[in-house]
Amino acid sequence: MVRAIYPGSFDPATFGHLDIIRRASALFDEVVVGVLNNSVKSPLFSVEERVNILENITADIPNVKITSFGGLSVNFARSCGAKVIIRGLRAITDFEYELQMAQTNRVLATDVDTMFLTTSLQYAYLSSTTVKEAAYFGADISKFVPEYVVRCVEKKYAGRVKQEGENSTF
Ligand code: PNS
Repeated sequence: MVRAIYPGSFDPATFGHLDIIRRASALFDEVVVGVLNNSVKSPLFSVEERVNILENITADIPNVKITSFGGLSVNFARSCGAKVIIRGLRAITDFEYELQMAQTNRVLATDVDTMFLTTSLQYAYLSSTTVKEAAYFGADISKFVPEYVVRCVEKKYAGRVKQEGENSTF
């Protein structure tokens, strides 16, 4: 069995993430999506909520498993019995950071390789950050995320008062 992990923040998962998950699931026997439990960042969704969202939107893909992890991605890969880390590349702007991370991971664990899937063109502009910002200011995000995620994001922002000229960190 050839297993790959797909680690990320997924705060929240978008159509871009789902596209990578679907395509990776066609390439590997099993894909384990790892939601990073990161105590430094302050995500909109708790790690349990992000896992729940991913479970919901990937429910129709039998060889995909969702779990959370802490620490290094390479250690997570090893604990899953995976030798491949999947990452999506949207544009050249992603490349520098992704290359650095892949090379660091390769030095940390020579038995684990990173494979990049280029994001499908229709999602190349998408990011969780812009989705959250758009939703915060009341925009329709249904072109960016599955319906279930739309509802989760709307619930998070329900009742929040948006001020003209207000600044927020997403
Ligand atoms: O969705 P993101 O935020 O781009 O995902 C980044 C992620 C989670 C893949 C990356 O930050 C990560 O792997 N974090 C775990 C710590 C680690 O292994 N860092 C890379 C080597 S130092």
